[in-house]
Amino acid sequence: MSSNPYLPRLAEVLEVKEESPEVKTLKLKLKEGRMKFKAGQFLELTVFGVGEAPFTFSSSPFNLESFEVSIAKVGSVTGAAHRLKRGELVGVRGPFGNGFPLEEYKGRDLLIVGGGIGIAPLRSLLYALVAERSEYGELKLLYGARSPSLIIYKDEWEKFMEKDVEVYLTVDVGDETWRCGPYGPCGYTHVGVVTTLFDLVKLNPEKCVAFVCGPPIMIKFTVQRLLQLGFPASRIYLSLERMMKCGLGKCGHCNIEGYYVCKDGPVFPFEMLKDIPHPF
Ligand SMILES: Cc1cc2nc3c(=O)[nH]c(=O)nc-3n(C[C@H](O)[C@H](O)[C@H](O)COP(=O)(O)OP(=O)(O)OC[C@H]3O[C@@H](n4cnc5c(N)ncnc54)[C@H](O)[C@@H]3O)c2cc1C
Ligand code: FES
Repeated sequence: MSSNPYLPRLAEVLEVKEESPEVKTLKLKLKEGRMKFKAGQFLELTVFGVGEAPFTFSSSPFNLESFEVSIAKVGSVTGAAHRLKRGELVGVRGPFGNGFPLEEYKGRDLLIVGGGIGIAPLRSLLYALVAERSEYGELKLLYGARSPSLIIYKDEWEKFMEKDVEVYLTVDVGDETWRCGPYGPCGYTHVGVVTTLFDLVKLNPEKCVAFVCGPPIMIKFTVQRLLQLGFPASRIYLSLERMMKCGLGKCGHCNIEGYYVCKDGPVFPFEMLKDIPHPF
């Protein structure tokens, strides 16, 4: 990180990939130095002349040459980020936040549950896990999007399966491509919200740790299901979002009941949040 945490460092856009009609992935490289981060941490990205917004790293933390963020277009900064072209410069501050506590869970089974753009930090987590695949037990991913065209990282799921990750995809509403298209032969034909995938997987809550990221309603129902299955609150990790400014625990914008999402999170064990009304 730069010695002044408020000062963005310059990064070049190396590649822009359209993942879906709503999401683009930017591959970035710092003009000076390397970006060293943990899966689950985030950065503040400045589109010059427009503004700054937080995004989690979506690429492997083991690749120090470049890094990626996957951005859903929702407003001014994300809209401007979608217009960026290869070779343009952006500002980046970070990495910020805590990241996923992987060292604690070597030898365990891991369950990863993602909804919508919430899959972005979980992709970084998956790359970190498969880089040390033999260190972990069973590795399962449940990922849902609203429709087949909104499933992102489409060309990567089979590669994760080859690395002994069980991948289960679902969409809220299917179409022809979902039933017969590229996903059909691989068995990706499930329709229903992401929690309906729990009926397809065998889990051992005694041994398993869950990592969850997605829209608040999806987090709420996923946590409920995990608790029903017997997961202890201490082994359910949530990656949360709040409005942010500084990213450093100074401005107070991201406060939830005494915790700063930018500094104490964005990854929280549910144990820390369970007594807070409306934590997600
Ligand atoms: C730690 C963290 C990590 C994030 N990681 C990603 C990521 O990897 N990919 C991604 O696409 N997005 C991510 N987000 C959300 C992203 O920061 C917001 O979508 C972005 O700030 C919106 O900026 P904008 O200027 O385009 O939108 P604006 O023009 O400011 O607002 C457009 C709409 O988005 C809402 N909005 C703005 N900021 C947020 C926010 N932080 N959370 C929820 N709603 C918001 C506004 O209320 C408004 O409805 C993350 C947010 C946080 C806090
Ligand atoms: S964004 Fe300023 S305290 Fe968290």
